[in-house]
Amino acid sequence: MKKMKVLIVGAGGREHALAWKLSQSKLVEKLYCAPGNGGIAELAECVALRVDDIEGIVAWAKKEGIDLVVIGPELPLTLGLADELEKAGIKAFGPRAKAAEIEGSKVFAKGLLKKYGIPTARYGVFEEAVKAREFIRELPGPWVVKADGLAAGKGVFICTTHQEAEEAVGDLMSGDVLGAAGKKVVVEEYLEGEELSILAFCDGKTIVPMVPSQDHKRAYDGDEGPNTGGMGAYTPVPVASPELMKEIEEKILKPVITAMEKEGRTYQGVLYPGLMLTKEGPKVLEFNCRFGDPETQVVLPRLESDLGEIILAVVEGRLGDVEIKWKNEACITVIMASGGYPGSYEKGYAIEGLAEAATEGNGVLVFHSGTKRCEGKLLTDGGRVLAVTACAGDLPEAREYAYRAVERITFKDRQYRKDIAYRALKP
Ligand code: AMP
Ligand code: GLY
Repeated sequence: MKKMKVLIVGAGGREHALAWKLSQSKLVEKLYCAPGNGGIAELAECVALRVDDIEGIVAWAKKEGIDLVVIGPELPLTLGLADELEKAGIKAFGPRAKAAEIEGSKVFAKGLLKKYGIPTARYGVFEEAVKAREFIRELPGPWVVKADGLAAGKGVFICTTHQEAEEAVGDLMSGDVLGAAGKKVVVEEYLEGEELSILAFCDGKTIVPMVPSQDHKRAYDGDEGPNTGGMGAYTPVPVASPELMKEIEEKILKPVITAMEKEGRTYQGVLYPGLMLTKEGPKVLEFNCRFGDPETQVVLPRLESDLGEIILAVVEGRLGDVEIKWKNEACITVIMASGGYPGSYEKGYAIEGLAEAATEGNGVLVFHSGTKRCEGKLLTDGGRVLAVTACAGDLPEAREYAYRAVERITFKDRQYRKDIAYRALKP
C-alpha cells in the first residue's frame, strides 16, 4: 500500500499520543502537526496554523500534497474542516460538521437520544428563563444545567438548590458567561453512578469500541474542586465488564450510529459518549465527536494494531474488515498542570527531569499537553502541561511507575492529583 503524508490537527496531549502511535504505522511516510507543541515536534513537523483556520489548513494541505488529515479537537470538526478537506479531495478522519453537531449542540444530541429511545437523563430545552424555572420546580433535584453550544468543559452546572439552578439558567441565557453557546439551555435530572468513557471507531455503519477508560474531571484529590479538561485517566476499568460492554454496544453505540445515518448525518471518525453507570443501566451524559483527552493517552498505548490502518479503513468505509487488537495491560496517565489551573496560571517555566522520568520503566511515556521549545529549553505553555503515562501488567504496578515518573519531573508550581485510578484501586 502507498505510504501517506499525514497531517494531525491539534496541540494537546491527545494529539501527541496520536502522533506517537501514527509514527509507528507502516502506512505513514511523514507526519505533520498543526500547530503541535514542544513534544509533538520530536515526531512531526509542526506547522504554524491555528486549529480554527479552516481555509488555511485546507490550502496548506493541498499545497503539501497531504494524503490524510486526522482532526483532534471538536472546534475544527464543528466548523466543517472535514467537509472542506473532502471537497478538496483530501481524506479526512473525523465527522462532517452536520455529524459533529452531536457534540456541538446538546439540544441536538438530547433530541436524537429521545427520538430513538437511547437511555439518557430526563430533560427539557429552554430559551426563556420563566419556562426553565417552571421545569426546575417540577423536577426533583439536584439539577444539571447545560449550555447548548461548545463550552470547553465550562458549560455544565450541577446545582443543589432551586436558586442555584435558576441562577445558572439566568447566567447562561444572559450571554455573559458563554456568549451564544448559552442562548439555549438544557436542564436535566442528576444521574448518580460511576462515569465511563467509551471511545469508538466508526465508519458510518460499523462501530467498534476501544478499551474502556475513566477520566478524572475535578481538579483535586477525591474528586474535589472545580471541573477541568481532565486530570488523569486509566484503563482497564474494572466495572466495565464484558457484559456491560455488550450492553453499551447494543443499547447505545449501534443505535446511535443507525440514528445518525437515518437523520442524514452519517458519522465517521471517533464517537465518544460519556456514560453514567446508573442503577438502571448505562445512560448517555454527553457525546464527543473525537478522541478524549486524557483518555487517548491511556487507550492508544494499549492498541496493538496499526492505527494508520484502522484510520484509513474508517475513512474508506471498511472498518468491518480490519482486526483491532489490544494489549492485555493496564495504563495510567497523570496530568501535570500549571499551578492555579483551571483558573489563571503563569506560563513559560522551565521543565526538568523528562529524561530521568523515562528511566522509570519501559512502559513510561510522557505526552506533552502544553509545552513549547524555546532556545533549546522546554517550557510550560498551558494549563495542562504533561500527561505522564505508564503501562504495566496491572493497575497497581502502572500507578507505581506513573507516579515515580511524575516525581522526577519538576517545574515551578506544578500541580497534579495523587489519586488517579482510586476507584479501581479501592481496598
Ligand atoms: P458533559 O460536558 O455533559 O459531559 O458534563 C460534564 C460533566 O458533568 C460530566 O462528565 C459529569 O461529571 C457531569 N454531568 C453532566 N451531566 C450530568 C448528569 N445528568 N448527572 C450527573 N452528572 C452530570
Ligand atoms: N476527557 C474529556 C474530554 O475529552 O472531553
